[in-house]
Amino acid sequence: MIFSKIKINSKGLEFSKLKKCYDSIFETIIKTRGIITHDNLKFNNHLGDITKGINWTWSCNADTLLLFENCIRDIKSQINSIFKNEFYLFGASFITLYDSEISDSDFHLDVTSQYDQSPTNILTLIFPLYVDDSMGGLEYKESDKIQIYKYNYDEVFVWDACKLAHRTQPYKLSQKKKRVLVSMNLVSKKSWSVNSLKTTLRYQGNL
Ligand SMILES: [Fe+2]
Repeated sequence: MIFSKIKINSKGLEFSKLKKCYDSIFETIIKTRGIITHDNLKFNNHLGDITKGINWTWSCNADTLLLFENCIRDIKSQINSIFKNEFYLFGASFITLYDSEISDSDFHLDVTSQYDQSPTNILTLIFPLYVDDSMGGLEYKESDKIQIYKYNYDEVFVWDACKLAHRTQPYKLSQKKKRVLVSMNLVSKKSWSVNSLKTTLRYQGNL
């Protein structure tokens, strides 16, 4: 399996905790770079380069990672069964775009490794915190055809990080609006997969 959609209850308590946390650091995310602390939580805020103006705000300690992990606890066994491996959460971030137009975005694989194989060993999981229909979804390639996945609040989109080429679908709005996604990186216990993911995410700002 290269990708899958899994239903979630985004109105649940764990999701509202995560959203509340995001809301309290949003102003800092768009104004500053580097470490952000909030109570016992710690993030690293990094400006990415795959999509112009994209902010990656990475969980930086165990308490913060737990806040994210609690949101996928109920679907963890489903993920393992769909992708036929045992995964654990390695990294998590908020992805913020705060602009009226996103035009500059490249197709990419999240992780590349010469050891990549079947079954899947590295997954990217995404669900939205703030998105509306006028904003771009996720463009991905399936047998060289471009498909579009539109984010929706009751679902996570999960894909094989080494196999699914994708990018942010370009979009234009009448005014500047925030588009916020939650991204999680899951990995098997294979040492090559952990090392590849660690190297890739460090480059994107995961300390
Ligand atoms: Fe990506």
